[in-house]
Amino acid sequence: MKKVIKNGTIVTAADTYTADVLIENGIISLIGENLSTQGAEAIDAEGCYLFPGGIDPHTHLEMPFGGTVTKDDFETGTIAAAFGGTTTIIDFCLTNKGEPLKDAIKTWHAKSNDKAVIDYGFHLMIGEVNDAVLNELPSVIDDEGITSFKVFMAYKNVLQADDETLFRTLIAAKELGALVMVHAENGDVIDYLTKKALEQGNTDPIYHALTRPPEMEGEATGRAAAFTGLANSQLYVVHVSCAEAARKIAEARDNGIDIWGETCPQYLLLDQSYLEKPNFEGAKYVWSPPLREKWNQDVLWNALKTGQLQTLGSDQCSFDFNGQKDLGKGNFSKIPNGGPFIEDRVSVLFSEGVKKGRISLNQFVDITSTRVAKLFGLYPKKGTIAVGVDADIVIFDPTVERTISAETHHMSVDYNAFEGLKVTGEPVSVLSRGEFVIRDKKFVGKLGAGRYVKRAKYGANKHAKESETLTF
Ligand code: URP
Ligand code: ZN
Ligand code: ZN
Ligand code: ZN
Repeated sequence: MKKVIKNGTIVTAADTYTADVLIENGIISLIGENLSTQGAEAIDAEGCYLFPGGIDPHTHLEMPFGGTVTKDDFETGTIAAAFGGTTTIIDFCLTNKGEPLKDAIKTWHAKSNDKAVIDYGFHLMIGEVNDAVLNELPSVIDDEGITSFKVFMAYKNVLQADDETLFRTLIAAKELGALVMVHAENGDVIDYLTKKALEQGNTDPIYHALTRPPEMEGEATGRAAAFTGLANSQLYVVHVSCAEAARKIAEARDNGIDIWGETCPQYLLLDQSYLEKPNFEGAKYVWSPPLREKWNQDVLWNALKTGQLQTLGSDQCSFDFNGQKDLGKGNFSKIPNGGPFIEDRVSVLFSEGVKKGRISLNQFVDITSTRVAKLFGLYPKKGTIAVGVDADIVIFDPTVERTISAETHHMSVDYNAFEGLKVTGEPVSVLSRGEFVIRDKKFVGKLGAGRYVKRAKYGANKHAKESETLTF
């Protein structure tokens, strides 16, 4: 049935205006004043904003990691995402060296098929580059629509790839039209510092932060940027946590390198002192890169405001405090790395960013949705409110005041890292391709209704680069 959303204030990355939205067959078919509701279901959005559905570029659902598996899967994770105003996620598909990439992708389809309640795509981890991998990449892009590759510069002996792998991935990505993503920390130095700390009997959660210094995130970010410049390729740095890394990205952008940066709500709001909470509670705040000294938060906010960082990912990678995080009692290096943020990403940026005057309303939409869609080949089908696009719409009440808590969240973990945080604003109803997933704050979606999305190549809508001086 047709739907008309009446009297909402539409917010895109460019504009803010009041109009009605007609939805037919999952698509926005008309935007205008006083649209007729004849033959359509009328939905009143008076006093609410209409945002394009949030797009979370960084999730790890049902992912084996740190000797366990992340707690939220494609069912609980996408339901929580929807409650939070996110209608598309891009999850990281892990690969195993020596195994066909298509097997890994098949595994990820099996996890998500029949479970996801919102649309989803995959990024593909590249752990090695050899003939077999290079032969498979064209099909990964053309058949699977996976147009972003992830290289880990940290997690030595687990996920870490070497410099040659990163450089060759950048070259292949440039040729094929993919965006390379990096986890930028120097895994070798971190591995050494971790061994030293443990030898000295320093086993508490705080040593997770102290053995992963910001200098080593800055160094890896600068190294990856230099490789990108040399390969004349394109790079997206995930989860930027500190001034050192943000500065390297800004510097590379000034030098004309095609590089983009993502931060996460946890780095904007929480700081290193959380890892010192007593009774092992610091383990709740263990993820990588680690939380930093508080002053970094101003640098990150400013980078979002000025466009030096462009997106916000959740880095959703949830583990229960009881039963999973405690694998690292007595040895911080065994605490599974990650936290639960898929649900609160959008609301936290609205409340702490827009309401506190740090970013504009249109910047908020760009950071949580539009820019992500453009970088990852989803735009303009997703990432905006316009005629002809998917009706992925969040009806958002900007006045509600509430307190974030594990008591009321929808993620399947036993704690919330933002416990007690008071926020203003909340999604009231959320539509995915014109169907309600959340209606008046209740889940009304269907398991498996989320579709796998094949994404366009990087820069598909841009002019090709015209000058190339070096070929590899
Ligand atoms: O600690 C984190 N961030 N866990 C998820 C994996 C990653 O590095 O993004
Ligand atoms: Zn990472
Ligand atoms: Zn991650
Ligand atoms: Zn041109």
